[in-house]
Amino acid sequence: MRNLPDTAKINKQNHLEIGGCDTVKLAQEFGTPLYVLDEKTIRNRCQGYLKSFKKYYPNTAVVYACKALCTAGVLKVVTSEGLGLDVSSGGEIFTALKSGCDPKKIYFHGNNKSKDELKMALKAGIGRIVVDNLQELENLDEATKQTNTSAQILLRINPGIEAHTHEYIKTGTIDSKFGVPQNEIDNAVKLARKKKLIRLVGFHAHIGSQIFDVKPFVDEAKLLLSLTLKYKTEEMSLGGGFGVSYLTSDEPPSLDLIAKEISQVLKNKTMAKLVLEPGRSIVGNAGVTLYTVGAVKNIPGIRKYLFVDGGMSDNPRPILYQAKYDAKIANKANDKPGEKVTVAGRFCESGDVLIRDIKLAEANVGDILAVLCTGAYNYSMASNYNRVGRPAMVMVGGGSATLILSRESYEDLVRNDAVL
Ligand SMILES: Cc1ncc(COP(=O)(O)O)c(C=O)c1O
Repeated sequence: MRNLPDTAKINKQNHLEIGGCDTVKLAQEFGTPLYVLDEKTIRNRCQGYLKSFKKYYPNTAVVYACKALCTAGVLKVVTSEGLGLDVSSGGEIFTALKSGCDPKKIYFHGNNKSKDELKMALKAGIGRIVVDNLQELENLDEATKQTNTSAQILLRINPGIEAHTHEYIKTGTIDSKFGVPQNEIDNAVKLARKKKLIRLVGFHAHIGSQIFDVKPFVDEAKLLLSLTLKYKTEEMSLGGGFGVSYLTSDEPPSLDLIAKEISQVLKNKTMAKLVLEPGRSIVGNAGVTLYTVGAVKNIPGIRKYLFVDGGMSDNPRPILYQAKYDAKIANKANDKPGEKVTVAGRFCESGDVLIRDIKLAEANVGDILAVLCTGAYNYSMASNYNRVGRPAMVMVGGGSATLILSRESYEDLVRNDAVL
């Protein structure tokens, strides 16, 4: 199934297995909720991007947008495959450097980077600062002087491209907080070129996330190409946004097709370096979250609820974006789906529903529910709502599981309570 990790299997015990590990045993060993990540799937996606794009356009670099999932365990795997990193905060820079990423391969994004974050990036020798607006250009200029460093920048532009995705994850339409509007690009380029310690290397755009159409990317490539030719720059970044399968009915285009269509726009017209920043499509399908069913509540004729021990704090996407998920009962992996149920979380909001109306194998208290495609924007957007600690995360592969993130303890939760 395309929404499962590449190594997913059903074993003789009728249990879901990932990376050679029985998920029911993982739940017993590490507790639930538990984020499970399949190393092989992450490596396959990284290699897939490099292979597909380099085949059609050799001068391509791929940087992983670590907002999708930023933990040292993940960053080490991704960078070992040759990817750079897209970061968007001091915290992500800190994690990237601690994880051993080459600072030159880091791209620093954000529409309101603080002056301290800019100085931190410059002192660390971060490869590219992606300048989002004219105020930031001035702040960066000041930071280069104060730190006696120089900056290589991409100018983020607002491409004004409509991508068919959720309102909250569209970023490239005219009414967007991100990027320099097209009628201000000329002025921004002139200003950037006057700064002694700043070098304009190229342009960046990002049109949104979870996009299935290839056409908006082609339009974006055309726009960036025209700017590259007009201003004689060396690099263009198309951002990320490539869609993944949350449901089996989700059919994103193949990487090969995306690479082919984008490179057709650029080939023989420019030698500029092409940069891609996939996040969701690197880690999304690698992740599965395991929960324990704590109660089953049947409201006859209305709805049958399965209550699980996590919910909106470990996966806020359903409540934020009405995101849809698929799931399996991990200890009844091959059983036929029966009646419709609704999977509700444990948090104090009626909207804390992970999956509405899904057909699952008959579930009982104590069963392990595996929610699929939770690798991206789950842990990275998780909260401590109701003072519930964030789950542990394990990386699985070759039949063994490595704890890459510890479960937050009660002590962790009160660590910053300054009066205690
Ligand atoms: C500038 C930029 N690059 C890359 C990404 C990654 O997008 P995705 O995870 O959809 O690939 C984002 C996501 O918001 C972004 O804002």
